[in-house]
Amino acid sequence: MSIDYQERIPNNVDLNSDRRLQRALEHWQPKFIDWWKELGPESFQAADVFLRTAVSVDAQGWASYGFVKMPDYRWGIFLADRVADRTIGFGDEMGKPVWQEVPGEYRSTLRRLIVTQGDTEPASVEQQRRLGLICPSLYDLRNLFQVNVEEGRHLWAMVYLLHAYFGRDGREEAEEMLYRHAGDANNPRILSTFNEPIDDWLSFFMFTYFTDRDGKYQLKSLAESAFDPLSRTCTFMLTEEAHHMFVGETGIGRVVQRTVEKMQELKSDDPALLRRHGVIDLPTVQRYINFWFSSALDLFGAEISSNAANYFGTGLKGRPDEASYADHSLLATEHTLYRPDGKGGVEAETVVARSAVNHMTRDAYAKDCEIGVKRWNRTLEKAGIDFRFQLPSDRFRRTIGVWANVPTDTQGNPISAAEFERRRGEFLPSAEDRAYVKSLMQPVTEPGKMAAWIAPPARGIDNKPVEYEYVHLQ
Ligand SMILES: [Fe+2]
Ligand SMILES: [Fe+2]
Repeated sequence: MSIDYQERIPNNVDLNSDRRLQRALEHWQPKFIDWWKELGPESFQAADVFLRTAVSVDAQGWASYGFVKMPDYRWGIFLADRVADRTIGFGDEMGKPVWQEVPGEYRSTLRRLIVTQGDTEPASVEQQRRLGLICPSLYDLRNLFQVNVEEGRHLWAMVYLLHAYFGRDGREEAEEMLYRHAGDANNPRILSTFNEPIDDWLSFFMFTYFTDRDGKYQLKSLAESAFDPLSRTCTFMLTEEAHHMFVGETGIGRVVQRTVEKMQELKSDDPALLRRHGVIDLPTVQRYINFWFSSALDLFGAEISSNAANYFGTGLKGRPDEASYADHSLLATEHTLYRPDGKGGVEAETVVARSAVNHMTRDAYAKDCEIGVKRWNRTLEKAGIDFRFQLPSDRFRRTIGVWANVPTDTQGNPISAAEFERRRGEFLPSAEDRAYVKSLMQPVTEPGKMAAWIAPPARGIDNKPVEYEYVHLQ
């Protein structure tokens, strides 16, 4: 169904035909706008921003570009088209028709899954709200705002499901989404990663590369859900998510590019010298990777999880690209993972595969993370630089799962707590690293100009040149 932009709430779910639902959402809408104005991007609410908006949900050409003031962005409800005769693709109900309504026995579990996903969307907008003030270019500023408005739309996607399928509890949960705030001591966001402020652009690029990619894998798992409206919502959200990860991958790539140019010019890899010349040395970038990758892994939950097994068995949440696997029951196969043996070594543990769904999803995620690492390394290789980026081991700096609070080096070798502390500055960004990166964050807002620590992008947005005035500042 095409998107109706004549409505107060743009949608392709025929909202018109359900007056009660329409009125409930129209009641929530001004609260959302108030939240956006108060906790969305600071200082840029009156600027005209070159943004894309969904005009249809099919794979080709769903986006239209134009200037819009962010509070006027047409947030709406867009679901991917219904797949005729879709059946459940995994678990105990495999082969049965998918659900168009929520089965009573799964109501609270499903609501919890939707609320947890939904809560991350406005959280990231709040975390990133001050980044515009220190943007490296208008091109980047525009990309930040594109990500922010789409995370706002992802909140709409989850709020729609809550309103449409969960009655009064759903409406209450939708209200709560606007009352919890990232970093609020009394009323924080649900997942701890989403309470940390993102106050420099290297962190923003790491967030969009690693954390938004966790979002991709959560959405892919939910897109497999037997609850069809959730599946269709997540399928469309994934098309928007791709741009967020593009921002992260190219952002980090441009930082690396700029540093490489400086290294060649100075014929040096000395971090102190490079810092005096205003670029981010490669070991610092690696430490940021170590930090963000390890914190993203925790978002997948414990490797062995009865909750995940339960979601899988009941059909609530599958694995990303479930159809690409051979076994969709996971009761007759086993899965082996490695855990600390409690004596400073490692031992194998074999469990029924259904208990290890989180582990499989996380492995698929880690593999996907390698793609960018390879691209960044190609830049180094081409420049004749020996340094190579590497994802840290999935045992490194974990706070959840079998490796929780077991100190290891970035290769995953168990080490003593004392050694970890001694080498902390080798593994993770130090206060000094962070202060240095922050010191570089001076706003650059002249069209086409870039901050000195980042290379320009290879191309602009929507075939516009890089020098295009992507944001009209007031
Ligand atoms: Fe999102
Ligand atoms: Fe995102």
